[in-house]
Amino acid sequence: MSDFPSFPPGFVLGAATASYQIEGAASEDGRGPSIWDTYSHTPGLVKGGDTGDVACDHYHRYPEDVALLRDLGVGSYRFSVAWPRIVPDGSGPVNPKGLDFYERLVDELLAAGIEPAATLYHWDLPQALEDRGGWRVRDTAERFAEYTATVAERLGDRVPRWITLNEPWCSAFLGYSVGRHAPGAREGRGALAAAHHLLVGHGLAVQALRAAGVREAGITLNLDHHLPATDSAADRAAVVRADTLHNLMWTDPILSGHYPDTEQDTWGELITCQDFRRDGDLELISQPMDFLGINYYRPITVADAPYRESDPARRVATDNRYEEAPTPGVRHTEMGWPVVPHTLTDLLVDLKEQYGAALPPLHITENGSAEDDRVTDGAVHDPDRVAYLRDHLTALRAALDRGVDVRGYYVWSLLDNFEWAYGYGKRFGIVRVDYDTQRRIPKDSYHWYRRMIAAQRP
Ligand code: NOJ
Repeated sequence: MSDFPSFPPGFVLGAATASYQIEGAASEDGRGPSIWDTYSHTPGLVKGGDTGDVACDHYHRYPEDVALLRDLGVGSYRFSVAWPRIVPDGSGPVNPKGLDFYERLVDELLAAGIEPAATLYHWDLPQALEDRGGWRVRDTAERFAEYTATVAERLGDRVPRWITLNEPWCSAFLGYSVGRHAPGAREGRGALAAAHHLLVGHGLAVQALRAAGVREAGITLNLDHHLPATDSAADRAAVVRADTLHNLMWTDPILSGHYPDTEQDTWGELITCQDFRRDGDLELISQPMDFLGINYYRPITVADAPYRESDPARRVATDNRYEEAPTPGVRHTEMGWPVVPHTLTDLLVDLKEQYGAALPPLHITENGSAEDDRVTDGAVHDPDRVAYLRDHLTALRAALDRGVDVRGYYVWSLLDNFEWAYGYGKRFGIVRVDYDTQRRIPKDSYHWYRRMIAAQRP
């Protein structure tokens, strides 16, 4: 008997990547600069001074990477389109060479029998748009819809699954409040405006995708499962604030057409400056989607905490009077993230209970772990990653058994890649990348996933 979890016929098993993390070729073929070029080239912001200039050189090596996907046997590959390759200045002329690249990639995937799943925004905002206010301003949402229409008109006939935004929580809050992601701002109102405009951008992009006649349109959220550090009323209230910021702030507008009832307590005095919300926005944001993508890695244990900044005028949007507390008694990955696979089941079952019929079919659009991999005799033995994937897939199967409609799972990531502010030091790939030679070495986890996919065939 195998230890492979089994999934219903038609269940999609895939792998995921994102443009800035793997492509490189940062100034080739007319690509404009993005906020991540600016951020990574600012000394001191990314570990080791790493940038995405070369990354995995996927822009040139995509045929080799598609061959790896084909041998793996995945049904689908999730990649992202770099907006600054398509519209280098954020608005105005389209760069044909950018569209050509994604067309070559899509055709290569289709020839290998792999369904492409395209993410339109995985954080590489054209720098020109940031210079005009970035996601703080509504105009960026409108430019996003134009760019979406351009890409979907070209590739909509061949790409069945489209994801508007990847993890808008990160774009809004890591980007404009915590400052650990591009553009590196630390703001209150600006971050809340960014969150709203990302949601508006999602709504406008879904409209553009519908106009282009694509088969499936959805969004990917990083929903978190929060655990209270203790059973105290204060820690449980902190969990509600964390849930509001990470989850409800996104799922309520998208699935239910309203902002969460708990937002007043979460944003404190910042709630008074929401003048960027307009009539009709929630209808736009909540239009029907074909699926909801969820990226899931770990639970977060949360404890009550005072405001970090006592002056309300200088408070950032993420100063929500809670802090992350240790999750004891479990293994932690190289990211320091606790490994508690059953929390994936819990998250999905809770979501179904919370939203009922308003919840569209789900895809796990990312799941994986960074481990301290070593090459020995030309191989990478990564038993911790294999166990992580096996246990999360088993937890996913348990959610299906409890009636949650999940249609697919994408491992993060096909390749080791640029892990944002952590640079290349954190390796999430099931294929190792030697950044000196660009040699790819499939890890044990790749071989395990390959066998698992093969075991699904009747
Ligand atoms: C989520 C992000 O979408 C992806 O870009 C990142 O590399 C992984 N999480 C791992 O942190």
